[in-house]
Amino acid sequence: MANGEAVRVGVVGIGQRAVIARHVAESGLPATVVAAADPTDGGRARARELFGDVTVVETHTELIERRLVDAAIVTAPDWTHAEIAVDLLRAGIAVYLEKPLAITLEDADAVLTAAHEAGTPLYIGHNFRHSGVVRALHDVVARGEIGEVKAVWCRHFVGNGGDYYFKDWHADRGKVNSLLLQKASHDLDVIHLLAGGYTRRVAGMGRLAVYGGITDRGGNEGRLMQDWFSFANWPPAAQTGLNEVVDVEDVSMVMMTLDNGVLASYEQCHFTPDYWRNYTVIGDKGRAENFGDTGGGVVKVWNRRRTWATDGDVEYPISGVEEGHADADLITMTEFLRYVIDGETPTLSPVAAREAVATGALATQSLRNGSIPLDVPPLPAAVRDHFPAPAGTR
Ligand SMILES: NC(=O)c1ccc[n+]([C@@H]2O[C@H](COP(=O)([O-])OP(=O)(O)OC[C@H]3O[C@@H](n4cnc5c(N)ncnc54)[C@H](O)[C@@H]3O)[C@@H](O)[C@H]2O)c1
Repeated sequence: MANGEAVRVGVVGIGQRAVIARHVAESGLPATVVAAADPTDGGRARARELFGDVTVVETHTELIERRLVDAAIVTAPDWTHAEIAVDLLRAGIAVYLEKPLAITLEDADAVLTAAHEAGTPLYIGHNFRHSGVVRALHDVVARGEIGEVKAVWCRHFVGNGGDYYFKDWHADRGKVNSLLLQKASHDLDVIHLLAGGYTRRVAGMGRLAVYGGITDRGGNEGRLMQDWFSFANWPPAAQTGLNEVVDVEDVSMVMMTLDNGVLASYEQCHFTPDYWRNYTVIGDKGRAENFGDTGGGVVKVWNRRRTWATDGDVEYPISGVEEGHADADLITMTEFLRYVIDGETPTLSPVAAREAVATGALATQSLRNGSIPLDVPPLPAAVRDHFPAPAGTR
């Protein structure tokens, strides 16, 4: 945007997540939300509540045809991401696309290819990379405090899983592929970051262990997660109002071999009482682990030989908000707008987002086919090279 005018931003999909578009104003950069698109009456009403007097339409194609926007924030559900992003990119509209980039590897590659061919800015909202816990773990690795990383293990306790993922479209394979792809795309991305490599071989294992047996279904049409969320919904088998289709796994595990020889594993469970993720990063000179994953938590580093100790040899407080990720969201939105306005290379790369989808998609394929190991095909070099590698990453 060289003409000095404010970037006209549209928001596509006005549900739970559309609130991140408010960070456009908070960024202090010359950009304004001017339009919103949602196919439902409820979504369009929320657009007016959230953004005030903006142009509200039903589809992203209307934003394109009426030339209403220069950039779009796509917070529509996962299965719509690829089609919406490709249309916008081909029309020359810069795209902030929520994670996951797409629900299949083929669609993920199609989005990156469209950005490459059209030369339009594409940014994927992997906000978790900007969270305090990930920064603290990454800083430990970057300072060499645990030597060269050899293994990364992540256990993901999705205590809010019943409310977050089993009462709407998230529970339907046709709409998300799997929660290993949907939810884990953050962690697969962070495993790649901490390990300094990308997964090339995966094997998965998982099942629908708890929520599949619940027969109380339906009733959430037109409602959003905030309308039914409650800590009182416990134990998990007592949940009511599940999505009509529930065929995604609620417990799953993945083993990964990365291109630099690092071995990684990821475990996700949607019926734990607590909600957080725990990383262990093991190098050839020490081990780092987080306790708590928001402000108030701690990253501990052990780098002296011993039996066991709950205290680390060094401990780093985790910075940031104590709940949610509003701080990280402001950083991602600011990065996206700087990319659009000044051409500044963001620290998050669509290539990394593609590798998270590739790993999640093939891990899912593996777990649904007898846990056979599968090789992750590389992104075509011409497409990969189109996206500048952010400083210090790949
Ligand atoms: N990065 C994060 O931390 C984070 C957190 C939450 C959600 N998300 C992502 O945000 C996206 C939206 O999630 P949500 O929880 O807001 O979902 P939601 O169901 O609350 O809202 C989705 C909205 O999109 C609308 N919609 C459906 N089809 C559409 C289409 N073709 N075009 C335009 N709008 C359409 C729906 O009517 C609804 O209003 C998902 O991809 C999710 O993975 C990311």
